[in-house]
Amino acid sequence: MPGQPREVTLMTAAPRWWSDAVIYQVYPRSFADGDGDGMGDLPGVIGRLDYLADLGVDAVWLSPFYVSPQKDAGYDVADYRDVDPMFGSLEDADRLIAEAHARHLKVIVDLVPNHTSDQHVWFQEALASPPGSPARERYIFRPGKGPGGEQPPNNWQSIFGGPAWTRIAGADDDETGGEWYLHLFDSSQPDLNWNNPEVHAEFEAILRFWLDRGVDGFRVDVAHGMVKAEGLPDWEGSVHMVGGEDEDRRAPFFDQEGVHEIYREWRRVLDEYEDRILVAEAWVHPLSRLFRYVRGDEMHQAFNFVFLSAGWDAAALHEAITDSLREAATVGATSTWVLSNHDTVRHASRFGLEFVPPHQRGIGPEDPQPDEALGLVRARAAALLELGLPGSAYVYQGDELGLPEHTTLAPEDRQDPAYFRTGGGEMGRDGCRVPLPWAAEEHAFGFGAGEDATPWLPQPERFRHYAVDRQSGDETSTLELYRTLLRLRAQHGFGRGEFAWHELNDPQEGFLAFTVTAESSDLQVLVNLGTQPVRVGPHEGTQVTSRRSALTDGHLVPDAAVWRITER
Ligand code: NOJ
Repeated sequence: MPGQPREVTLMTAAPRWWSDAVIYQVYPRSFADGDGDGMGDLPGVIGRLDYLADLGVDAVWLSPFYVSPQKDAGYDVADYRDVDPMFGSLEDADRLIAEAHARHLKVIVDLVPNHTSDQHVWFQEALASPPGSPARERYIFRPGKGPGGEQPPNNWQSIFGGPAWTRIAGADDDETGGEWYLHLFDSSQPDLNWNNPEVHAEFEAILRFWLDRGVDGFRVDVAHGMVKAEGLPDWEGSVHMVGGEDEDRRAPFFDQEGVHEIYREWRRVLDEYEDRILVAEAWVHPLSRLFRYVRGDEMHQAFNFVFLSAGWDAAALHEAITDSLREAATVGATSTWVLSNHDTVRHASRFGLEFVPPHQRGIGPEDPQPDEALGLVRARAAALLELGLPGSAYVYQGDELGLPEHTTLAPEDRQDPAYFRTGGGEMGRDGCRVPLPWAAEEHAFGFGAGEDATPWLPQPERFRHYAVDRQSGDETSTLELYRTLLRLRAQHGFGRGEFAWHELNDPQEGFLAFTVTAESSDLQVLVNLGTQPVRVGPHEGTQVTSRRSALTDGHLVPDAAVWRITER
């Protein structure tokens, strides 16, 4: 097999807790239900912290649990300083932080600064105030175009489908006849005006509110979207969640230079505290632009959606890994790695599809269905790839169970605004948000819903096979595989190791091979994404394989991976 040129990337950043952290995403609605009403909540999370500590992750990131009308599952925040009663109380949040810390788990909360809910007191005030008033200046209100201002101010489209502008009713004395407000997402999510110093001051206060309560960091929602180009110029392109823009032309509402100033401001606030981090959710490419968000005086991490979007494709993964490590090194950061989250089809299902449409959002009953068994063996191999890479890894709840997407949800069960705003043209993200199965034989698979309650999204029958209690203690299970990988990763410090492509690496033939040199051991990661067994020779020492019979006669079979550890 032809060898690839050997590249070595040195980690230049002084290791801090986040440099190599494995961060587990909790989607509070669907993790565990503490009060039995069918909706996950903070007491439910607290009850499962031992599970997370035992899994071996370093930190927990919680999707929003703030007061919200839940038009976008909590990404429409009405009060940034309180917990929605459906998730518990502020005391529960405090207890969660304390209990997590007692188990040496860091806590990252979600921050949604691009938009508020339309139920936020600021927006309500804006609606009740005249055009040009300070209350309107906190958002992006504009008069419409054309006779009577009946056309939206520009042609921008909402990321959830339909126009990005909604017109409000004008008062009798309102000469504009009713202004329009900008919402890059749902009409219930008006965009804030980040040219307004009051918005800056408010978010600094919100940061301090949660920092003072002891959180270890913030995952910043749509971190590339807060600043819009001067004059709000028309733009013909289209953008997709996670994927970003279709073309290389940047949207006038994404990745504008001004956003970086906001992160410099926030960084100064965080630096007054110890060891707190900012994580960018930014659909920005190429990677050289993404890593500008993690320059020394800005954020600490950015989700690596290029890696996530590479799919089960050796050449795309090879490029994503090479570019990420190179770009991370140029800014003195480490890279992150992520395979799934609450906005994407779960990778155990994506990897089981023959064809993955670009920017796929959801799978419906009429769509081609994934090959569940194939998806699972690949997802297990992908775990060895992701967790073998140096840097920080994100695990979405259920990844550790090999959990598939719910691909046959009925229209009446769907909740995602993207489904409704596209008239069902997009299935939306509900399929990856289904409540977790904890116990195979219990009501709602042990999610916690009381006998007379049903989970907020129905669980498919096949979730039974993935239940935590079925997998725990079974050496062949995906859960035990994750536990083993996380234990070895931490024990050897592979997350802080030095990366180099290995001579067996041959992405064009579907084979990835690299080594990670840690303090007193070497890790070799070999992943076969191709169609033929590949000769990898014998190994003395610890070996972890992604599936039974992965290694046959000195060959690594297709859709399999192996970790080979050599102590020095
Ligand atoms: C990104 C979040 O991950 C997604 O769930 C949400 O709908 C949008 N941002 C809007 O806040």
